[in-house]
Amino acid sequence: MHIPWDEAWHEALYGAEGFYRRTAPADHFATSAQGIPGGGRVLARAIAKLARSRHCTRVVDLGCGRGELLRHLRELAPELHLTGVDIVPRPADLDVDAWLVSPGGAGLPEELVDLRATLVLAHEWLDVVPTPIVETDDNGVWRVVTVARDGTEEHGRWLTGPDLHWVKSFAPRGAKRVEVGRTRDLAWLDLLDRVRTGVVVVVDYGNMRGTRPAHGTLTGYRDGRQVDPVPDGTCDLTAHVAFDSLMSDYPDDVTVDMMAQRDWLFTLLGEPTSPVPHELATTRPTAYLEALSQRAALNALTAWPGLGEFRWAVAHIARLGR
Ligand SMILES: C[S@@+](CC[C@H](N)C(=O)[O-])C[C@H]1O[C@@H](n2cnc3c(N)ncnc32)[C@H](O)[C@@H]1O
Repeated sequence: MHIPWDEAWHEALYGAEGFYRRTAPADHFATSAQGIPGGGRVLARAIAKLARSRHCTRVVDLGCGRGELLRHLRELAPELHLTGVDIVPRPADLDVDAWLVSPGGAGLPEELVDLRATLVLAHEWLDVVPTPIVETDDNGVWRVVTVARDGTEEHGRWLTGPDLHWVKSFAPRGAKRVEVGRTRDLAWLDLLDRVRTGVVVVVDYGNMRGTRPAHGTLTGYRDGRQVDPVPDGTCDLTAHVAFDSLMSDYPDDVTVDMMAQRDWLFTLLGEPTSPVPHELATTRPTAYLEALSQRAALNALTAWPGLGEFRWAVAHIARLGR
């Protein structure tokens, strides 16, 4: 049976037998938060610094996997109140102050509201929020793409309404296939609305209209390898985030800074300009090794091309009167 891609995608990742219910992200791919030696610690240092600089006493890691980044945050910043949010129960050995089980995709837990003095990090969340996928047919008309569990596709109904408007606004010139990012825009607005005072940090790989591929970006990952995107629950399904669309609409009482990960990390942690001093190897060998490893990890997270190109949208929120 063929159903619209966004429905198949949601079921494949978050349904009863969904990919993220059965396996941890770290089993299948590395991110800046996990799977890169020293990387999670570098990211945690940056997030702790950002939280402190914005007077945030709490950090919520939305889509935190099995809490890999939270473990580093606990160690580096024990004064922070930490909350993990994901679609599975809290891992038994994870030391956090709270854990919320979420429906998954664009859906967020009801309890995640009225956040104050809180930094919410959504690290590689929006790319796994399912979107409709649309294609032009032989007559040049936009059609919703439907898909079967084995990945075979058909053209469904004509695209209309707000999704068509989104495509007209954000599809690149000559596009034939597009992931309709409106579901991510709405998820981002929902998240912003849950914070009264604090910062929302959305980190993901993404694109802008000028660089958006004409045939879309949907792909799969399994066991560390990129695979065809098939909605059968055996692989991750992910598509780039349309950051120009996210940036085009947010409330007036929110300000947003968007920069590449490389620039944010250099701003927060400093650029590694001088080498780690060799004398340290004899006077403080452990500190020397730690400094070398942190430097290598910072280089990995700021590599260009590479992870340094990821975008950080950092929203500052101060709704004191509400
Ligand atoms: C690509 S992984 C990223 C994991 C981790 N943040 C990292 O960067 O390594 C996406 C994670 O988001 C979780 N997720 C997806 N939608 C969610 C939602 N609405 N609420 C909470 N977690 C969600 C998935 O279960 C998965 O663990």
